Amino acid sequence: MQAAPRAVRKRAFASREGILAVTFEIQEQVDLSPYNSFGVTQMAAFFADIQDPADLPQAREFAASRRLPVLVLGQGSNTLFINDFPGLVLYMNNRGREMLPGAGMVRAAAGENWHELVKFCLENSLYGIENLALIPGTVGAAPIQNIGAYGVELEQFFVELEAFDLKTGEIRHMSRVDCQFAYRDSIFKQDPSQKLVVLAVTLQLTLEPALQLSYAGLKEALAGQEATPHSVFDAVCAIRSSKLPDPKKIGNAGSFFKNPVISRSKLMSLREFYPELPAWDTEDADLVKLPAAWLLDQKGWKGKRRGGAAVHEDHALVLVNRDNATGEDVVLLAQDMSSSILQAFGVALQTEVRII
Ligand code: EPU
Repeated sequence: MQAAPRAVRKRAFASREGILAVTFEIQEQVDLSPYNSFGVTQMAAFFADIQDPADLPQAREFAASRRLPVLVLGQGSNTLFINDFPGLVLYMNNRGREMLPGAGMVRAAAGENWHELVKFCLENSLYGIENLALIPGTVGAAPIQNIGAYGVELEQFFVELEAFDLKTGEIRHMSRVDCQFAYRDSIFKQDPSQKLVVLAVTLQLTLEPALQLSYAGLKEALAGQEATPHSVFDAVCAIRSSKLPDPKKIGNAGSFFKNPVISRSKLMSLREFYPELPAWDTEDADLVKLPAAWLLDQKGWKGKRRGGAAVHEDHALVLVNRDNATGEDVVLLAQDMSSSILQAFGVALQTEVRII
């Protein structure tokens, strides 16, 4: 994976230790609205477009010399800003995809678009991730929240990732176990100081189709046609496009909340009042997962507004930037939603979106 050659610029910044010269560009006071899929306007004090990971040691030195917090961004499709960011944003924009010598192994740089990687794999007859089509965001963001949809999660195909450690300045290779994947969770999400910057991800796909059709709605969408990786890809794209708003057209970050996990006994008592309440089994026989969208829908949240923020009309789990919403509008709406669910069902909702 070769980074495109670029002009080398040199710029001097004053730091606590004196003058620090950096040979790639660090911009000051950058509007983050193009870099978060909600499209909210907040400023980054410093911003570096990282096309070449070789620039990261300098970026690290820059942040350390000024004692700046660092925030890593891909396409910002799971991030909501409620304040200006007083530190250095590293916008991961490195590119490259390659097939590795091991059969079915593919490696992609963090800055690659996730959906384009899914298409690339399908075009090269590598299967398994077609259920993850059209998930917005970059390859580097995919392991952070262990992206998942329609019965498939990234961790099933994950081999390893390379990360730059901002604490030590070293490159680390992290296995699936190291990443501690769970439902929309990983070691990266549990580290508020963000010391690891994902550089590239390696996946092991299958050479033979291995279809996963268990998710309600997917089999129905394929009715009357042969189930193949390509038809599953098309069906997933069609389902997502029909009920999830396109962040390019209206700002949003997909599901705002995680689906809550509760005990089976709690489910039984809720079902006395709500016999229709759907629930999915989990790996733990005593725990079930509830669809947060269903709970929110029962309480009439679809279409509700707060300032410029609104709940999407077609899906109660998706908050949208209807009209110049601020991050605060979105968070206040989300707080009202989760309080109403706690009050009505005694179930606490956790945000899936990272709030900065
Ligand atoms: N439902 C409602 N009202 C709504 C929307 C949905 O009652 O407004 C019901 C549906 O009828 C269904 C249930 O809620 O019974 C679940 O809905 P859906 O199939 O749309 O899935 P979800 O649980 O809301 C999850 C993921 C999505 C993923 C889909 C498909 C989470 C938090 N969300 O959504 O992921 O695409 O399943 O696998 O796990 C994302 O993480 O950003 C995301 C979009």
